[in-house]
Amino acid sequence: MTIARAHTNIALIKYWGKKDPTLIIPYANSLSLTLDQFYTTTEVTFADEAAHQDEFILNGQRLAPKATTRLAAFLELIRQRARVQRYFKVKSENHVPTAAGLASSASGFAALALAASTTAGLQLSSRDLSRLARRGSGSACRSIFGGFVEWHKGYDDQTSYAEPLQADQHVAMDIGMLALIISDQPKQISSRKEMANTVATSPFYDAFIQACEQDMIILKQAITQNDFVTLGQIAESNAMKMHATTMGAQPPFSYFLPETIQAIQAVQRVRREGLDCYYTMDAGPNVKVIGRASELETLQVRLTELLPNTPMVAARPGPGAMLLSDFE
Ligand code: PMV
Repeated sequence: MTIARAHTNIALIKYWGKKDPTLIIPYANSLSLTLDQFYTTTEVTFADEAAHQDEFILNGQRLAPKATTRLAAFLELIRQRARVQRYFKVKSENHVPTAAGLASSASGFAALALAASTTAGLQLSSRDLSRLARRGSGSACRSIFGGFVEWHKGYDDQTSYAEPLQADQHVAMDIGMLALIISDQPKQISSRKEMANTVATSPFYDAFIQACEQDMIILKQAITQNDFVTLGQIAESNAMKMHATTMGAQPPFSYFLPETIQAIQAVQRVRREGLDCYYTMDAGPNVKVIGRASELETLQVRLTELLPNTPMVAARPGPGAMLLSDFE
């Protein structure tokens, strides 16, 4: 039995759009921060010899076979690579609201990649583990590592992987995030579906990809120079450019809820009051507020005054994927 844990990551430069949907090769590099508060713990064992499919239990509930196609296809990749025939039994606990734009697929596939590959007898390097996790969900390749992580888009399976920024720069930078839980309901449209539609139909998509290249240069410089304000400005702008692509798609679509706009306006107000904070959003209505780690409590108190009905969770930089146990 193997137990692995991986933490979610939130992108500061977003991954949005696949050049190769099968291998999950993106159109642009992306850069994220792994967080300590949201994670998935996954236990994997071999199923009985007689089993004729993989078995999945998520948060104590057995998943129906039709909900497991993507997971089973991912485990099949591991079986092929390890040259094993046996099916797996997977038990996973999400300490993340599932599918609410808090990147549960990132922590989920990163933990599953580590636990299942270890059970199958593969001893993958972190880079190979990142490449494997990528096949489950693109953003999962970044959750193999802690702190600031860049996903190099590459051009094929070998060259598309994530890597931590050197020298623990997240430790030097006084950075944290407040997750504002606007909705913990599963999202209306999956990132996978909306990404594909955006790439195919949005006239803003090419402009977004070009902007990502420029944003990446400035953001990495900001990290090296420990410049929190520039980091926040770029992350905020990059996220809104990503969301603009979906509004320009056909049919037009937005992950925003009315409460999302209220949260954004609250962040802007607190910033005008003098506390440096910036917002970012993924494929869901929740808002993550980027703040200085040393000011997160003050930020949370003030934002709670403005948004009294919005639960908030304060998070700091978190670690990469890890094994919690590995024994037969
Ligand atoms: O890895 P996926 O397919 O869940 O896509 C993640 C996309 C965003 O969260 C919106 C952006 C990102 O880079 O994490």
